[in-house]
Amino acid sequence: MNIDFLKKELATVLSKKRYEHSIRVLNTALALGEIYNANLNEIAIASLLHDYAKEFTREELIKISKEHFTEETKDYITNVEILHSYVASYIAKDKFKIDNTDILNAIKFHTTGRKNMSLVEKIVYVADAIEPKRDYPYVEEIRDLALVNLNKAILLEVNKKIEHLIKGNYVIHINSIEMRNWLLKIS
Ligand SMILES: [Fe+2]
Ligand SMILES: [Fe+2]
Repeated sequence: MNIDFLKKELATVLSKKRYEHSIRVLNTALALGEIYNANLNEIAIASLLHDYAKEFTREELIKISKEHFTEETKDYITNVEILHSYVASYIAKDKFKIDNTDILNAIKFHTTGRKNMSLVEKIVYVADAIEPKRDYPYVEEIRDLALVNLNKAILLEVNKKIEHLIKGNYVIHINSIEMRNWLLKIS
């Protein structure tokens, strides 16, 4: 898959602001990929496509999710923040003919995470959370940890995210809870 081609495609569906976020995620994820000896090509494709569906309409997101991820999204079908990840993985497969499981899962689980994430999944997940323009409590600590221990970085990130979700009385995706419990066990 040609990276410049993907960038051009991405620019047609995202606002400048979201396109630039995707490029920062790409660069952050590639830097982490170097540190952890991950497959940089997989990381580049997943990073570029992770938010491909971010600006799809609510109707489109719900329609594609109901059609292609019926079981997985049924409890979260009005939560477009979660649906955009599933829909982007569908686009990666359907439009860009990507069949690499690590790439598809890194896109699909970039919002919620999940237990037993692969290295590529972890890198895209954490890069999305720490790209240079991200600014929220503990982001510096998460950035520092990501350079030395991905599991601990994601554990801190998900703990803070869950605290935030509880404070705002928002739904917590079951995958995030399972990821947290898995990371607690292994890190
Ligand atoms: Fe996203
Ligand atoms: Fe993102």
